[in-house]
Amino acid sequence: MTMATRDHFKSRIGFILAASGSAVGLGNIWKFPFEVGAGGGAAFVMTYLFFAFTLCFPVMVAEIAIGRKTQLNPVGAIKSLGHKRWTFLGYLGVASGFLILSFYTVVAGWALGYFVEMLLGNFDIGNQFDAFTKDWIKMGLYSLLFMSGTAFVVSNGISGGIERAARILMPTLVVFVLALVIYALTLPNAMEGIKYYLQPDFSKITGDIVYKALGQAFFSLSLGMGALITYGSYVSRETNIVRAAAVITVTDVSIAFLAGLMMFPFVAYMTQGDPVGIREVSGGPGFIFITLPGIFESLGHSLGMVIGTAFFLLLSFAAFTSTISLLEVPTAYMIDELKVERKAATWAVAGTIYLIGIPSMLSVGAVESLKNFITLPGPGTMNFMDFVGLIANDTFLPLGGLLISVFTAYVWKKSNFNKEIRVGSHQSKTGFLEVYVDIAISYICPIILGIITLVTVFRNFFGIDIIGGLF
Ligand code: PFF
Repeated sequence: MTMATRDHFKSRIGFILAASGSAVGLGNIWKFPFEVGAGGGAAFVMTYLFFAFTLCFPVMVAEIAIGRKTQLNPVGAIKSLGHKRWTFLGYLGVASGFLILSFYTVVAGWALGYFVEMLLGNFDIGNQFDAFTKDWIKMGLYSLLFMSGTAFVVSNGISGGIERAARILMPTLVVFVLALVIYALTLPNAMEGIKYYLQPDFSKITGDIVYKALGQAFFSLSLGMGALITYGSYVSRETNIVRAAAVITVTDVSIAFLAGLMMFPFVAYMTQGDPVGIREVSGGPGFIFITLPGIFESLGHSLGMVIGTAFFLLLSFAAFTSTISLLEVPTAYMIDELKVERKAATWAVAGTIYLIGIPSMLSVGAVESLKNFITLPGPGTMNFMDFVGLIANDTFLPLGGLLISVFTAYVWKKSNFNKEIRVGSHQSKTGFLEVYVDIAISYICPIILGIITLVTVFRNFFGIDIIGGLF
């Protein structure tokens, strides 16, 4: 397709909002605080921030550059740069998108369901979480609603669907986050929560934390699966890619950071500032859905309803702009490669992914065999949904990031990459960020991502610790 016929983001800010919308999601507001809670507080935050800026930012620049250069989906993009043997990398991305979206809509469905419950003033929903997730008809309907909304936006194309949705949802989301942070900071014992969140204890950095923080950074920035190759393919040649990637990274990290500033005061309020309690309460995936409604209730009925409704609406909005980008990846593949028309492609992909997500939906409570789905040497027994997460988020994304950096530096070649970055940069000199991206893509990302991916794959799937005491 040529520039003339391919739909594009109408403006630079439209692209930045859509890409930030992809990045800001359940990963920031649901996953980040509980990973921080479980991972020893500030030690996790620091590791995550370090990875986001040193490893993820350069990969983001590479993804957007590949997309803009080729004007294609990940499979077509890699193929069109003339390297058929690397096409598997594009397919790995499309497959990751499929898998992630399949369970992401399940959790997004919970968020939507909780929004409705909060609106009805049902604070007891936290205690009914088990029953809620076992009610597969209700679950099924909420995720169906979410997926249908996502498909509706994606079927309307880039400027008329994705960009328009991001322009409304992202500013609203920022207002909600800020309002909730300000409110949370006024709660009794808020500062104890902030202390747990921000006072680092480097003895807490273990191999597991490094691995989790890396997975979280890639997941949170929507990297390693070609979502930004796809969005990059709709970016104009006037856009400064490096600067745009920097803005997207900072936005995403800031929202995750703010989510922590909002969540830990709530937890500390509940545990009356006890740090052991803060860790116990905040450190699990159930935190938002099991504990938080009770905390909202303790604020008083009307205020609790307002805060609770605002919170779950915020969570749903954040999830929505992410599911849009997850769906766009396989949809763009079908449009570009299989020549299917956009509307048909969108609904076909959305329907298929919805069906693939059903086992995840049932694995949280309804079906015992899916609940205790597999026992792995590293993480132990896990349900189907966590297993898909382990494969797609924690393994495929860093692996995808590793392969994208190797591909960019050594297959597509650095000179071509740098040429693409300069398009739209309007700078006569090469700046610091450009120099860093160049070095990172060639050496830092391949080496560090290579080591961490290898170590963790061996540890999780084979129970072998290949570098012994180092981690
Ligand atoms: N970045 C999203 C989040 O933090 O929730 C998740 C995500 C969206 C991952 C899009 C990957 C992706 F392509």
